[in-house]
Amino acid sequence: MVGTFLCNSEDETRILAEKFASHLEPGTIVLLCGNLGAGKTFFVRAACNFLNITEISSPSFSIINLYSGKYEITHIDFYRINDMEELFPIGFYDYLNDDSIKFIEWADMFPEIFTSGYYMINFINKDDVSREITIKYYE
Ligand SMILES: Nc1ncnc2c1ncn2[C@@H]1O[C@H](COP(=O)(O)OP(=O)(O)O)[C@@H](O)[C@H]1O
Ligand SMILES: [Mg+2]
Repeated sequence: MVGTFLCNSEDETRILAEKFASHLEPGTIVLLCGNLGAGKTFFVRAACNFLNITEISSPSFSIINLYSGKYEITHIDFYRINDMEELFPIGFYDYLNDDSIKFIEWADMFPEIFTSGYYMINFINKDDVSREITIKYYE
Protein backbone atom coordinates (compact mmCIF):
# COMPACT_ATOMS: atom_id res chain seq x y z
CA MET A 1 0.00 0.00 0.00
CA VAL A 2 1.58 3.28 -1.14
CA GLY A 3 0.51 6.91 -1.59
CA THR A 4 0.30 10.29 0.10
CA PHE A 5 -2.41 10.74 2.71
CA LEU A 6 -3.53 13.79 4.66
CA CYS A 7 -4.63 12.70 8.11
CA ASN A 8 -6.52 15.48 9.86
CA SER A 9 -6.91 13.71 13.20
CA GLU A 10 -5.40 10.94 15.28
CA ASP A 11 -8.33 8.75 14.23
CA GLU A 12 -7.53 9.24 10.54
CA THR A 13 -3.90 8.30 11.17
CA ARG A 14 -5.02 5.25 13.13
CA ILE A 15 -7.28 4.11 10.27
CA LEU A 16 -4.43 4.56 7.76
CA ALA A 17 -2.05 2.59 10.01
CA GLU A 18 -4.59 -0.22 10.36
CA LYS A 19 -5.05 -0.42 6.59
CA PHE A 20 -1.28 -0.48 6.13
CA ALA A 21 -0.88 -3.16 8.80
CA SER A 22 -3.47 -5.37 7.12
CA HIS A 23 -1.07 -5.75 4.15
CA LEU A 24 2.04 -6.61 6.20
CA GLU A 25 3.77 -9.97 5.98
CA PRO A 26 6.50 -11.58 8.11
CA GLY A 27 9.93 -10.07 7.48
CA THR A 28 8.67 -6.76 6.08
CA ILE A 29 10.87 -3.75 6.83
CA VAL A 30 9.12 -0.45 7.52
CA LEU A 31 11.21 2.72 7.89
CA LEU A 32 9.60 5.76 9.52
CA CYS A 33 11.01 9.26 9.07
CA GLY A 34 9.95 12.70 10.25
CA ASN A 35 10.47 15.23 13.04
CA LEU A 36 9.99 14.59 16.74
CA GLY A 37 6.29 14.46 17.44
CA ALA A 38 5.35 13.92 13.80
CA GLY A 39 3.57 10.66 14.63
CA LYS A 40 6.00 7.79 13.94
CA THR A 41 5.42 6.02 17.25
CA PHE A 42 1.69 6.78 17.07
CA PHE A 43 1.52 5.06 13.67
CA VAL A 44 3.50 2.01 14.87
CA ARG A 45 1.30 1.74 17.96
CA ALA A 46 -1.89 1.79 15.84
CA ALA A 47 -0.47 -0.74 13.38
CA CYS A 48 0.60 -3.06 16.22
CA ASN A 49 -2.74 -2.71 18.01
CA PHE A 50 -4.35 -3.94 14.81
CA LEU A 51 -1.99 -6.96 14.94
CA ASN A 52 -3.18 -7.77 18.48
CA ILE A 53 -0.34 -6.15 20.41
CA THR A 54 -1.70 -3.75 23.00
CA GLU A 55 1.21 -2.37 25.03
CA ILE A 56 3.51 -0.43 22.73
CA SER A 57 6.02 1.96 24.28
CA SER A 58 8.41 4.25 22.45
CA PRO A 59 11.82 2.61 21.96
CA SER A 60 13.64 5.96 22.02
CA PHE A 61 15.50 4.97 25.24
CA SER A 62 15.41 1.17 25.00
CA ILE A 63 16.42 1.36 21.27
CA ILE A 64 14.85 -2.05 20.51
CA ASN A 65 11.46 -3.35 21.71
CA LEU A 66 10.20 -6.82 20.79
CA TYR A 67 6.53 -7.75 20.64
CA SER A 68 4.54 -10.81 19.75
CA GLY A 69 0.99 -10.75 18.41
CA LYS A 70 -0.37 -11.94 15.10
CA TYR A 71 3.29 -11.57 14.00
CA GLU A 72 6.60 -11.01 15.74
CA ILE A 73 7.37 -7.29 15.76
CA THR A 74 10.73 -5.58 16.18
CA HIS A 75 10.34 -1.86 16.95
CA ILE A 76 13.56 0.13 16.77
CA ASP A 77 14.44 3.81 17.23
CA PHE A 78 17.76 5.17 15.92
CA TYR A 79 17.32 8.58 17.56
CA ARG A 80 19.86 7.98 20.33
CA ILE A 81 22.32 6.02 18.19
CA ASN A 82 25.36 8.18 17.44
CA ASP A 83 27.27 5.84 15.20
CA MET A 84 26.34 2.84 13.05
CA GLU A 85 28.96 0.80 14.95
CA GLU A 86 26.68 0.91 18.01
CA LEU A 87 24.16 -1.24 16.13
CA PHE A 88 26.34 -4.40 16.24
CA PRO A 89 26.48 -4.98 20.03
CA ILE A 90 22.71 -4.48 20.45
CA GLY A 91 22.05 -7.22 17.89
CA PHE A 92 20.45 -4.99 15.29
CA TYR A 93 21.77 -7.00 12.33
CA ASP A 94 20.40 -10.25 13.75
CA TYR A 95 16.94 -8.73 13.88
CA LEU A 96 17.27 -7.14 10.46
CA ASN A 97 17.19 -10.48 8.66
CA ASP A 98 14.78 -12.41 10.84
CA ASP A 99 11.10 -13.12 10.19
CA SER A 100 9.77 -10.31 12.35
CA ILE A 101 8.12 -7.23 10.94
CA LYS A 102 10.56 -4.37 11.53
CA PHE A 103 9.43 -0.82 12.32
CA ILE A 104 12.45 1.49 12.42
CA GLU A 105 12.04 5.11 13.51
CA TRP A 106 14.61 7.70 12.36
CA ALA A 107 15.89 5.16 9.80
CA ASP A 108 17.08 8.05 7.60
CA MET A 109 19.93 8.67 10.09
CA PHE A 110 21.73 5.68 8.52
CA PRO A 111 20.24 5.33 5.03
CA GLU A 112 23.14 3.18 3.77
CA ILE A 113 21.89 0.23 5.84
CA PHE A 114 18.77 -0.19 3.72
CA THR A 115 19.33 -1.02 0.09
CA SER A 116 16.16 -2.68 -1.17
CA GLY A 117 12.90 -4.28 -0.17
CA TYR A 118 11.46 -1.85 2.35
CA TYR A 119 8.62 0.59 2.96
CA MET A 120 9.53 4.19 3.73
CA ILE A 121 6.91 6.26 5.52
CA ASN A 122 7.46 10.02 5.81
CA PHE A 123 5.55 12.12 8.33
CA ILE A 124 5.11 15.87 7.95
CA ASN A 125 3.60 17.87 10.79
CA LYS A 126 1.07 20.25 9.17
CA ASP A 127 -0.44 21.57 12.43
CA ASP A 128 -1.40 20.28 15.89
CA VAL A 129 -3.67 17.57 14.57
CA SER A 130 -2.85 17.17 10.85
CA ARG A 131 -0.12 15.01 9.40
CA GLU A 132 0.86 14.42 5.78
CA ILE A 133 1.93 10.79 5.53
CA THR A 134 3.68 9.44 2.43
CA ILE A 135 4.16 5.70 2.04
CA LYS A 136 6.60 4.46 -0.59
CA TYR A 137 7.94 1.01 -1.37
CA TYR A 138 11.49 0.49 -2.62
CA GLU A 139 11.94 -2.84 -4.40
N1 LIG B 1 -3.14 13.20 12.98
C1 LIG B 1 -2.25 12.76 13.89
N2 LIG B 1 -1.51 11.65 13.63
C2 LIG B 1 -0.58 11.20 14.52
N3 LIG B 1 -0.32 11.78 15.71
C3 LIG B 1 -1.02 12.89 16.03
C4 LIG B 1 -2.01 13.42 15.14
N4 LIG B 1 -2.55 14.52 15.73
C5 LIG B 1 -1.93 14.65 16.91
N5 LIG B 1 -1.01 13.69 17.11
C6 LIG B 1 -0.15 13.58 18.31
O1 LIG B 1 1.18 13.82 17.90
C7 LIG B 1 2.07 13.09 18.74
C8 LIG B 1 2.98 12.23 17.92
O2 LIG B 1 3.95 11.70 18.80
P1 LIG B 1 4.86 10.46 18.42
O3 LIG B 1 4.07 9.46 17.68
O4 LIG B 1 5.54 10.03 19.68
O5 LIG B 1 5.92 11.14 17.43
P2 LIG B 1 7.33 10.61 16.92
O6 LIG B 1 7.43 9.15 17.24
O7 LIG B 1 7.31 10.89 15.44
O8 LIG B 1 8.37 11.44 17.61
C9 LIG B 1 1.21 12.26 19.68
O9 LIG B 1 1.11 12.93 20.91
C10 LIG B 1 -0.13 12.22 18.97
O10 LIG B 1 -1.19 12.07 19.89
MG1 LIG C 1 8.91 8.04 18.25
